[in-house]
Amino acid sequence: MSTQIKKVAVIGAGTMGAGIAGLCAAKGCEVVLLDMTRELADKGIEKLTLGKRPAVTDETAARIGRGSLQDDLSMIADSDWICEAVVEDLAIKRDLFSRLEAVRKDGSILSTNTSGIPLRDIYAQMPERMQQNIAVTHFFNPVHIMKLVELVPGSKTDNRVMTALTDFLNNTLEKGTVRAKDTVNFIGNRIGCYWMLAGLHKAADSGLSIESVDALMSKPVGLPPTGLYGLIDLIGLDVMDFVGKNLSKNLPDNDPGRSYLALPETEQHMLNNGQLGRKTGGGFYKMVKSADGEKSMQVFDLQQKDWRAIQKVELNDAQTDIEQLMYGSDGESQFAWNLMSNTLTYSSALVPEISDDIVNVDRAMKWGFNWAQGPFELLDAVNARKFAEKCQAEGTAIEGMLKVLMDSGNDTFYRNNGSEFLGLDGNYYPVTG
Ligand SMILES: NC(=O)c1ccc[n+]([C@@H]2O[C@H](COP(=O)([O-])OP(=O)(O)OC[C@H]3O[C@@H](n4cnc5c(N)ncnc54)[C@H](O)[C@@H]3O)[C@@H](O)[C@H]2O)c1
Repeated sequence: MSTQIKKVAVIGAGTMGAGIAGLCAAKGCEVVLLDMTRELADKGIEKLTLGKRPAVTDETAARIGRGSLQDDLSMIADSDWICEAVVEDLAIKRDLFSRLEAVRKDGSILSTNTSGIPLRDIYAQMPERMQQNIAVTHFFNPVHIMKLVELVPGSKTDNRVMTALTDFLNNTLEKGTVRAKDTVNFIGNRIGCYWMLAGLHKAADSGLSIESVDALMSKPVGLPPTGLYGLIDLIGLDVMDFVGKNLSKNLPDNDPGRSYLALPETEQHMLNNGQLGRKTGGGFYKMVKSADGEKSMQVFDLQQKDWRAIQKVELNDAQTDIEQLMYGSDGESQFAWNLMSNTLTYSSALVPEISDDIVNVDRAMKWGFNWAQGPFELLDAVNARKFAEKCQAEGTAIEGMLKVLMDSGNDTFYRNNGSEFLGLDGNYYPVTG
């Protein structure tokens, strides 16, 4: 029996739930959105219509049915897909799924938008029907803009469920799905959070200014213009601290990311002072207005622990070319090599633990973090063999896909203009999807 998703129920009208409901409604689905109260559902939808570039029009918003979990649970009874996006709390999610299971129709699909709770913990000891019908659909924020959705099956999830979700997410919602596994933080956040948390430590040790770090960790390596500190200002230091604490509970014991989970000393000082990022009016950067109304950007000097005027960074030609930057010898190159080589060897070692192939890893970083190239495309761009040899010369173990590359005698992760990728067995396979 195949499932076509036309009617959608979303539970939780916060940032993600309202975003998912709004997107589904904008794409023509019949949508209901439930939260603890009907007012919370209304509020979530109202937020979607505000701002300079609203996520949905007023007309679309008006088509979304709303209700409370207490009084209106029956509204989900004929939904084809029920997507849970409530607070990140295992007990709350499990209690909710038990209630949904009692009401939903046969053949409907359940999913959770959790970012970090193992799916197996959510469905443990639940009825067989639920175990066969549940998956993770991990959207990225803002839902209507970010392309990535990580799709994770449980150990008993039907193929029918995965096929229907893939088809719906790709074709109706026009997302890019990536097949991930039930491992901590899936693909995008596992690698992205490693890069951010390791980045804070390595940048602090490098002695480079915030402006220099962000100038290097953006266009030269194909990452978004926010760089490292600008991105963390956007996310919030409190969220980074929460991410680090969650990872400390769930990362495998021998994971190299464990060295970077606590914030560096200055960032901890900022966190303690409530200097969290854009949401508190400033984190590493802040906009100030002079008496005559002129606006200018200031930066928080990490050594002085005080604000100063931002300084423009002029990178030389070698520092803007990724290969020259990675293999250069100045302080900027040493920092870029230190952070990017660690991130790339980390990504390499995580296949097949987090993904069966490199294509899903590269897509996750491009579609979820706006990297111009994924880790394995970056390795090709800097000459993967030369990269591995430099790592080996430094005593860094080559694991996962870099080992496959070296052992199989190949030079690149992709060939024939990116139409074929290197598989776990050292052979090339067509890139599909
Ligand atoms: N914000 C992100 O960037 C992001 C990205 C991907 C995944 N996620 C995940 O999506 C889920 C929702 O996150 P969010 O950022 O939208 O959170 P949020 O805090 O914006 O919204 C959570 C919603 O859950 C509701 N809620 C709280 N307790 C509840 C209960 N007992 N029963 C039912 N509803 C309850 C709240 O009223 C609120 O509307 C979480 O699992 C989170 O980890 C978040």
